[in-house]
Amino acid sequence: MGNIISEHSQKLNFGGKKRRKFHPLRQLSTISAKSTLTARSSDSTSSYRYIGGRRFNENTKYSLPNDDEEIDRLHMQHYLQRYIWQGNFCAPVHNVLKTPGAKVLDVGCGPGTWMLEMAFDYPEAHFTGIDISPMYPKEIKPINVEFEEADINQGLPFADNSFDFVVMRNMVNALSDEDWQKALKELERVCKPGGFVECLEFEIPGVHLGKTTKRIVEAYIQIMRTRSIDVTIAPRLEERFTTYTTLMNLEHHVKMVPFGKWGDKTGKIMADDLLLIMKAIAPILIPLWGVGEIQYQEFTNSLAKELDAGKAYCNIHTIFAQKYEPYHYI
Ligand SMILES: C[S@@+](CC[C@H](N)C(=O)[O-])C[C@H]1O[C@@H](n2cnc3c(N)ncnc32)[C@H](O)[C@@H]1O
Repeated sequence: MGNIISEHSQKLNFGGKKRRKFHPLRQLSTISAKSTLTARSSDSTSSYRYIGGRRFNENTKYSLPNDDEEIDRLHMQHYLQRYIWQGNFCAPVHNVLKTPGAKVLDVGCGPGTWMLEMAFDYPEAHFTGIDISPMYPKEIKPINVEFEEADINQGLPFADNSFDFVVMRNMVNALSDEDWQKALKELERVCKPGGFVECLEFEIPGVHLGKTTKRIVEAYIQIMRTRSIDVTIAPRLEERFTTYTTLMNLEHHVKMVPFGKWGDKTGKIMADDLLLIMKAIAPILIPLWGVGEIQYQEFTNSLAKELDAGKAYCNIHTIFAQKYEPYHYI
């Protein structure tokens, strides 16, 4: 088990980037789940649906938007996770990534923040990202980075044994339990013998949640189940790795990270991230839950207070394992 992350002695590093100030609670008041528009993206096969001023991909059951506001949140979450784990990955791949021609795949890469950083850190390696929504940079990107629009549920568009390192992070809002089984098999298939597969996921629900927070999270879990998404999978992922793949040398690490002001800067950013997720998911959640927008906002206000009062925290899981490499006899 990991330790409670404390910010007493260290400062979060946001990659030197000056970020826009955001106020999740204030911004929540602008949600309106009423307006719905659809449009086709000009540069991809995706169709978009606009609900409550947020843009969603129509071709997927994934429930979070793919607009600029979500891209900002994902950037923030990336730097938060990099700080929590004190690095961009846990698997022992540093040396292989320094080897010219090493190949890395990021599945569900979002805006590609992780890949762009990794491509800078490992200029000899080549990075491929796939996502169902083309949120990633299309033209201005390093030469060792490429992105492709693809759906993991349709199988990965790559040959067996193609990549030295295969990563899939923050996908609990995207996949059903059955999808996870298929996805893990696909990650294993495209990984080279001797290569590593790594997943990172937040555990839902958090721990020490207050009454209203539990109610919101329970509704969210149930509603996502009706959309065939299992947001609670994180603590069972190790078991999924061992049951559905033949990957070996598995390691499972857990960090307990505070939610709310009681956890100083990390806790504050974790809470901001949660509130931004609540806001992002609101256009989907509100109509399915059957609560009004004002009530949803009241719930969310209580959630923020309860996180501090109860000293809530979240477990974050990283699991990595290695593809079997047969011995070569001379
Ligand atoms: C929470 S974001 C995580 C992005 C990135 N991995 C990160 O950690 O910042 C989840 C991403 O998965 C993508 N996604 C959802 N369902 C997918 C699918 N079936 N195939 C590929 N990507 C998918 C979404 O479009 C979104 O960009």
